[in-house]
Amino acid sequence: MSESEKTPRLRGALDGIPTYKPGRPAAADGPVSYKLSSNENPYPPLPGVLESVTGAAASFNRYPDMACSTLMAALAERFGVPPEHLATGTGSVGVAQQLLQVTAGPGDEVIYAWRSFEAYPIITRISGATPVTVPLTEGEEHDLDAMADAVTERTRLIFVCNPNNPTGVAIPREDLERFLDRVPGDVLVVLDEAYREFVRDERVVDGIELYRDRPNVCVLRTFSKAYGLAGLRVGFAVAHEPVAAALRKTAVPFGVSQLAQEAAVASLRSEDALLERVEALVGERTRVTRELEAQGWTVPVSHANFVWLRLGERTDGFAAACEEAGVTVRPFTGEGVRVSVGETEANDIFLQTAAAFRKNEL
Ligand SMILES: Cc1ncc(COP(=O)(O)O)c(C=O)c1O
Repeated sequence: MSESEKTPRLRGALDGIPTYKPGRPAAADGPVSYKLSSNENPYPPLPGVLESVTGAAASFNRYPDMACSTLMAALAERFGVPPEHLATGTGSVGVAQQLLQVTAGPGDEVIYAWRSFEAYPIITRISGATPVTVPLTEGEEHDLDAMADAVTERTRLIFVCNPNNPTGVAIPREDLERFLDRVPGDVLVVLDEAYREFVRDERVVDGIELYRDRPNVCVLRTFSKAYGLAGLRVGFAVAHEPVAAALRKTAVPFGVSQLAQEAAVASLRSEDALLERVEALVGERTRVTRELEAQGWTVPVSHANFVWLRLGERTDGFAAACEEAGVTVRPFTGEGVRVSVGETEANDIFLQTAAAFRKNEL
C-alpha cells in the first residue's frame, strides 16, 4: 500500500461508539414548534445575566481567565466549600469526561445504571474502560444493591445520576448513604446532580452534604439546566483533593469562555429570580404529571424538569405524533420518551397529543 493510500491509525476503542445524539430541535416550519427534547430551561436569560455576557463579549479577542477565579470564589461561597475542592469545565459532561480521564483506562470498569444519561456509555468507552451497566428496577429506580454488588477490583468509577435522566426518579438519602457505605474508598462515586435545583422532596439528599466527609464522592453540577446557560457550556465538580486537583490538571486550557464565566457569576447573583422560574417549572411538572395520570398513563415521580413515559414499541409513534403536533420530545426507541417541562403552551400541546394518542389506542 502506498503512503497516500494509508489512513491514520485511530484507537480501536473508538470503534462502534455512537456519536452523542442531541435532542431534536423544534421544527423550523409548521404553525407552532417547541423543543421539549433536551431538558433546557425555556426562559430566556435574565436581563442582568444577559448584560454581563454582552459586557464580556467586548473583549473576546482575549483568552478567558483560565483559573475561573471569580466563578470559583462565587461557587466556594455559595456552596460553602474550599475553592481547592472545585473544578470547572465545559459543561458538566466535560467534567464527567475529565473524571474518566483521571480514573479509568483500558482494563478498568465503570459502573452506571441503565437507562441513564446517554453520555455515560460514550465517554466511558472513549476512555477505553469497560462499561458495566446495572438495569433500573421495575420502578425505574437505581438498583443500588446490584450496583454495589457489581464492584470488582477493576472498578474505578461509578456514576449515580440523581435525579436520573431520563426517568426523573431520585434516590432517598438512606439508600444513597447505605450504598456509599458499601463502596470501597478507592472507587470514585460521581453523584451527577444536573437537575438538583428541581428537587423538592426532602428525602432526596443534596450530594454536597454527602461529599463533605467522603473523599471518594464527587458531585457534578451544571449551569445548563435550572440556571438556563446550556448554550454557554459551564459546569463544575465538587470533590476532595486529589480528585479536584486532577480535574484542574486535565481541563482543556481556557475551555470555559469568559462569557460563560461572567454569566455563571451573574446567575449566582440573580439566583433568587432564577429559582423563581425554576419554581414555576416545578409547578408545571406537577400539572403535567397529574394530567398524564388522569389520562391513564403511568408516570414515575419526576424530581427533574422532564417526565418519562415508558412506551416500549409505541415510543417512535408517540414521538412522531408529538412532532406533528408541534413539540419535539426525546424518544429512546423501544423504551420510552423523555419530555422536558417547557413553556405552558408547549406542555399543553404535549398533553393534548398524549390524550389523543391514548384515545386512539383504546
Ligand atoms: C444527568 C446529566 N448530566 C450531565 C448533563 C450535561 O449537562 P451539561 O454538559 O450541559 O452541563 C446532562 C445534560 O443533559 C444530564 O442530563
